[in-house]
Amino acid sequence: MTAGRMGVLRDPGAVRRRVRSWRAAGERIAFVPTMGFLHEGHLSLMRRARRRADRVVVSIFVNPTQFAPGEDLAAYPRDLRRDLELCRNEGVDLSFHPGVDAVYRPGHRTAVHVTGLEHVLEGTTRPTHFAGVCLVVLKLLHMVDPDILVLGQKDAQQAVILERMIEDLDLPVRVVRGRVIRERDGLALSSRNVYLSPEERRAAPVLHRALRKARTAAWHGERSAARLLARVRRAIEAEPLARLDYVDCVDARSLEPRRRLAGRVLMPGAVWFGRTRLIDNEEFALPEEER
Ligand code: PAF
Repeated sequence: MTAGRMGVLRDPGAVRRRVRSWRAAGERIAFVPTMGFLHEGHLSLMRRARRRADRVVVSIFVNPTQFAPGEDLAAYPRDLRRDLELCRNEGVDLSFHPGVDAVYRPGHRTAVHVTGLEHVLEGTTRPTHFAGVCLVVLKLLHMVDPDILVLGQKDAQQAVILERMIEDLDLPVRVVRGRVIRERDGLALSSRNVYLSPEERRAAPVLHRALRKARTAAWHGERSAARLLARVRRAIEAEPLARLDYVDCVDARSLEPRRRLAGRVLMPGAVWFGRTRLIDNEEFALPEEER
């Protein structure tokens, strides 16, 4: 680890030059993309990055192209000063917070679609979301040019899609995933948790509890996705403040639906609490079924 003062840059060209000088000195660079309003989940990704590289770069950019009209882009919580302080405390080498104009030039038309993966699960409710995520992450990867990209497991579908994009485009970067970080009652940390009223906050762990029970049932031998999903739905419907958006049971890599659980399974879900939509998931491995 090379300790020193954290650089704070807004200009992509300056970021490229800084990273190039580190690489010329033989250093490995890990990159954690974020939309800011950092919490312990982000900090754990920075620590993971730190363990794997000589230099850690964190971007803080609320990416407009991954929000649909009517979503919470304008309201998305922001606190750059606090974010930079947290990055500094984690020993981050460079924080990069470009303006929207530096990322998206007027008249930009290029889109990135990871077909087949972007319109399922989260993409059913948010059909334009992953194209925006892929576009910004691809652009950030070009700007930062890291050896390692660190992504959070809470956005498991995002991680699957970005891994696919990186493989398909032969990008020379290795993806490392960081586990979901939770509050004591199981609620996954999310910048959007601040939107919850005290009553909604008390109700919010219901999704995690329901998914975890499903995982336990699977470990104890339940292999029917329909029965597991019915249990999850019942548990969530029993919480008056929760409104289920979706829950599913899919192959953790292809995101194809599973009727019988086997191999690496992902159970993702999204639930509304008032006007706040929260996501969570369980990913686990089961023996492959004999044919
Ligand atoms: O996971 C997020 O915070 C965002 O989707 C990401 C990867 C930083 C892209 O804007």
